[in-house]
Amino acid sequence: MKIYLETMGCQMNRLDSELVTGRLLAAGHEITDDRKSADVVLYNTCSVRAHAENKVYSRLGEEARRKGNLKHPPIVGVLGCMVQRQGPALRKRYPCVDIACGPRQLSDLPEMILNAAAGKTTVARDPDRKTARDAFENDPNFDVLDQGRDPCIGPNARAYVRVMRGCDKFCTYCIVPFVRGPEISRKPSAIVEEVRRLVAAGRCEITLLGQTVNSYCHRAGEQTVSFSDLLGRVSDIEGLRRLRFVTSHPIDFGNDILEAMRDLPNICPYVHCPAQSGSDRILKAMGRNYTREQYDDLIDRARAIVPDVVLAGDFIVGFPGESEQDHAASADLIRRSGYKNSFIFKYSPRPGTAGARHLVDDIPAAVKKYRNNELLAVQAEAGLAHHRKLIGRTMEVLVEGPSRRAGKQPKAPANPGHLQLVGRTRGDHIAVFDGPRDLAGQYANIHITGASALTLFGQLR
Ligand code: SAH
Ligand code: SF4
Ligand code: F3S
Repeated sequence: MKIYLETMGCQMNRLDSELVTGRLLAAGHEITDDRKSADVVLYNTCSVRAHAENKVYSRLGEEARRKGNLKHPPIVGVLGCMVQRQGPALRKRYPCVDIACGPRQLSDLPEMILNAAAGKTTVARDPDRKTARDAFENDPNFDVLDQGRDPCIGPNARAYVRVMRGCDKFCTYCIVPFVRGPEISRKPSAIVEEVRRLVAAGRCEITLLGQTVNSYCHRAGEQTVSFSDLLGRVSDIEGLRRLRFVTSHPIDFGNDILEAMRDLPNICPYVHCPAQSGSDRILKAMGRNYTREQYDDLIDRARAIVPDVVLAGDFIVGFPGESEQDHAASADLIRRSGYKNSFIFKYSPRPGTAGARHLVDDIPAAVKKYRNNELLAVQAEAGLAHHRKLIGRTMEVLVEGPSRRAGKQPKAPANPGHLQLVGRTRGDHIAVFDGPRDLAGQYANIHITGASALTLFGQLR
């Protein structure tokens, strides 16, 4: 069958989609970019903000209409976090949904599709948080989707590798612990083996993934493997050129991790460590378990220990009770940290979280909007200053491919065989330059000649 798969949400969802794609291809299906001609339409969904869910509702509204009008309507499947949050209610609201499949049930998706083709619908949710730990912790099939992966499927040269599932932090605004279940770390040997296979298949830039990747901890009998231990083991793999990890929680960022970043040459000097707010009062209400002072200290330690470290953050504006003073503290934190970039989100109450239960969403939409714009402007200034400091340097990039503007440039590249390419530095900067198309997936040295708030511009060396 021809299958269309659209992915919303975070890197974890993108990885899940990649792993599912491998399974579907192995089962003899075909993947298509054209939704209209597909026999099966799948949405891998996200629940983190209302906006993410609304996008899926609008897609499902379209599918419902199509099902009414077409002679051979497609099979419609909803995957991932929204299924976990809503379960059967989602199917009740959208009877056009043939398959509802929670994040940990994805390995059974090929079977669910065959069942749907035979007229049988499936609603498969993950076990409840309370029972999930027992159900998964000792289950050798816990990471069957990851272990069975085809290392050749995915973008050129880069790959994500899951090191843990779930989250136990329960920040008061966040749905993730409810939809992704308890935090369970994968066996280090399984992670190392997976990276080895990926590197052997030419995917030599690996990003280790976890909701709070740096709280990775695997215990077996007397032996405990911490995140810095894991970094050491993975970094040793022959042929692994770049090793990254996202996303980190400030509370678990010990110097052992920073020292591993300094000492192991293939670990990239990039730290994405969301602060969420610069105000102690709000951090407390968010349940983040650190103070502004502790966060500032982390940034200072990172800068002192890791040469040329590049920092990135996340912020939420308009959290319940956020005053102008709290907001100013977030702006101040962005200036002080000198992030390369930050992701800034407007608070969105998520049903079932402590925030939605106990706090009133009292910041008007217009105030959230201007605070969002204000932090974006402060971040743009910090980002520009950060990128400008790199002008004049020569930096290594992994070339991703033609830029979105390739071919639409006002001025054609000087060399007729060239087009505008985009690549990433070790510090995760986006670099744009002219070069031949066949550089995609390769490393190149770029002389940096210009900068904007989000991008470096340069010339191929
Ligand atoms: N596990 C990661 C990312 C979680 S979700 C981490 O802990 O950093 C990604 C980002 O979405 C969060 O960092 C936070 O900034 C934002 N976010 C999460 N829940 C939100 C909500 N209810 N409203 C607005 N933004 C939210
Ligand atoms: Fe959500 Fe907090 Fe866990 Fe991140 S650490 S996934 S923000 S609960
Ligand atoms: Fe969204 Fe689920 Fe990721 S809620 S942010 S897709 S873990």
